[in-house]
Amino acid sequence: MNTLHQILRLMKGTYNKAELYRDETVSEILNLKVEEIISDISEGKEQGLENLHRALYEIYICHFVSPWSEDVLDVNDLQILSIRTKLEKVWDKILEQKYESEIEQLANSQDFFNDLEKTIHNHKSGIDHELFSYLRESATLDDLREYIRQEGPFDLCFSDILCYLMPGIYGQKRIEIASNFWDEIGKGKEARTHRKLRISLMKALNIDEYEHIQNPAKYCWEELALANFYFKSSLNRKKNTQALGALLCVEMAVPGKMNYIYDGLKRVGLRDKDLVYVSEHSVVDIKHAQGWRDDVLTPLLEERPDLRTEVLKGVFGRLEVAGNVCDKLLKLMKEKKISSYQDRATV
Ligand SMILES: [Fe+2]
Ligand SMILES: [Fe+2]
Repeated sequence: MNTLHQILRLMKGTYNKAELYRDETVSEILNLKVEEIISDISEGKEQGLENLHRALYEIYICHFVSPWSEDVLDVNDLQILSIRTKLEKVWDKILEQKYESEIEQLANSQDFFNDLEKTIHNHKSGIDHELFSYLRESATLDDLREYIRQEGPFDLCFSDILCYLMPGIYGQKRIEIASNFWDEIGKGKEARTHRKLRISLMKALNIDEYEHIQNPAKYCWEELALANFYFKSSLNRKKNTQALGALLCVEMAVPGKMNYIYDGLKRVGLRDKDLVYVSEHSVVDIKHAQGWRDDVLTPLLEERPDLRTEVLKGVFGRLEVAGNVCDKLLKLMKEKKISSYQDRATV
C-alpha cells in the first residue's frame, strides 16, 4: 500500500490532475493516509515523522520549480492545502512543546543577540558536532559526496526562499535581504550565481542537479525536514518572521562548517576551481550573518520586541532539524550505509 508521499508523487506529471483532485476515492485515500501519519506520530513512531516530512516535501517543492514544470501538484487546490495544513499543525505542536521553555527564557534575555549567538554556536548541530571533524579529517570521497548530495534540497532552493520574504518589508531590512539575494545571484554574473557554483561542485562529484525535484526518495527524511522547515516558514505568510530567525541561524553556522568541508574535499582530491561554492560561503556568510542581525532583526525587534518569540521559534526549529541531519549523516557514514539512499527508486 502506498504512503501519502508516494500517492502525491503519483499525482504529479502526466495524470489528468483536475479529475484526480475531484475523485472521491482519491480524496478518501488521501485523508486516510494523513490520519495514519497523525496517529503514528501520536504513538511516537519515527515512521510517522518520516512520512510527514516526505509528504510535506512533495507539496512544498512544487513551489520551487518553474511554473511550467510537469513536476507539480496543484498546490492551491483545497485538498492539497488541507493536507499541508494538517501536517504542519502536528509538526508545529511537536516543536513548540519541545522548545517552549528555552524560547521563553531567551525571549526575556537582557542581552538578546549575544545570548542568541551563544545558543546557536553551542548547539549540537554546530561546528563541534563530530560529523564536521570526520568530514575534514577522515571521511572518504563517497562520504563527502554524499554530504554535498544530501544538502541539495535546501541549498538549491536558498535564493528562492529569500524571494518569498520580501513583500511588505521595506527600508534597510529590504535592502539587506536584497543584498543577500544579489550575492546569491552572483552580483548579476550568471557564472557566479550560487546555484551555478553549487551545480558545478555537484558535477565535479557526479551528482544529478534535478534529483531533489525528481527523486526525493534518495534523501534521508532528516534532510527533507531541514528543507521543509525553511519551506514552511517562507511559504506561510504568518511564519515569515520565523524564517528570518532560521536564516540568521544558517548564516551564522555556515562559515565555520564550510572551512571543514573545504579541507575535506581538498583532502580527497577536489581542485580549487570545483570548490568555489564552498570557499565563497566561508567568506560571504560572515557578512550575511552580520547584515541579517544588524539590519534585519535588530531594527525589527526594536520596533516589535513581542516578535522575539516568533524569531526564536525559527531559530530553535532550525537547530532541531539541523541537529537531526548531523546525527543521521554521521551514523550513515560510520555504519557505511550511505548507499542505502543513493540506490533508491522514485516511488
Ligand atoms: Fe549562497
Ligand atoms: Fe549567505
